[in-house]
Amino acid sequence: MSNKTISVSNQKGGVGKTTSVINLGAALNSANKKVLLIDNDPQGNLTAGLGYTPAEQPRTLANLLLAAIDYPEDLDYHLQKAIIHTDTGIDLIPANRRLADAAARLQVMQLSQYNAVGDAERVSEHIMADLLNHLRASYDYIIIDCGLKHELLTVNALVASDYCIVPVQAHFLASEGIPEVLELVKSVREKFNPKLQIAGILLTMYQSRPQLCHSVRESVSEIYGEAFHVFERPIEYSIKVAECPAAGQSIFEYAPKNAAAESYRSLAEEVLRLA
Ligand SMILES: Nc1ncnc2c1ncn2[C@@H]1O[C@H](COP(=O)(O)OP(=O)(O)OP(=O)(O)O)[C@@H](O)[C@H]1O
Ligand SMILES: [Mg+2]
Repeated sequence: MSNKTISVSNQKGGVGKTTSVINLGAALNSANKKVLLIDNDPQGNLTAGLGYTPAEQPRTLANLLLAAIDYPEDLDYHLQKAIIHTDTGIDLIPANRRLADAAARLQVMQLSQYNAVGDAERVSEHIMADLLNHLRASYDYIIIDCGLKHELLTVNALVASDYCIVPVQAHFLASEGIPEVLELVKSVREKFNPKLQIAGILLTMYQSRPQLCHSVRESVSEIYGEAFHVFERPIEYSIKVAECPAAGQSIFEYAPKNAAAESYRSLAEEVLRLA
């Protein structure tokens, strides 16, 4: 098992985070890797995109976070109940609106940390990492789909991760929230998780010819410095990609010949090469 945890994060909305989690997960699954996807967004788009109705899920990430806070000794029992084994072989921890309540609980915990000293194991930023410690050995890749609001949920995901992938809509490069993510990653690395690395910036909804990608790559270097890897292939804009979630399928099932399928496969190959 390679046991890698990857957060897909960008505080900017609608840049292709959830789409990338679904299709990267599917590509890694096809490469015979055991994959767990975690829906870390109260919108529940990842849950829906895999064909499950968020509001109907009796056990979600919210239950697990609350159990990790209140009944850590019962966590394995709760995990068994919450993990959905999908038909494709990918596992899912679903989410729905109740995740916002769990986020509020984390927030209260964070506030009370200022008053209490000691018990460093149970800090509000570490709850998801505690949770994942029970799961890492069972998976090659755990991929976390981060939402926009509830920064503490994103911080929890980053604290629990080895890598972060930052999707950006290629044609809005300069305004795509990259500085904010980089700042957040830096702060999490310094305070909580020195091993956290940015795996790369993923250009999504790309509408030009792939050959033009290197100019986008150059602007990334110009704007953000040479320090960041930009994944080799941008993900093409395609209506088929947008249609997948309604069918509860990845691009590999829905339109395997689509260019975006090849691009997500290429992303997976780069992810498989991560040290
Ligand atoms: N390559 C693509 N081509 C066409 N449409 C796409 C592509 N990638 C994503 N989309 C569509 O763009 C919209 C936003 O994508 P997605 O939900 O993945 O973004 P997100 O960053 O997760 O959004 P949010 O911030 O709301 O969580 C969705 O309707 C999705 O189907
Ligand atoms: Mg999303």
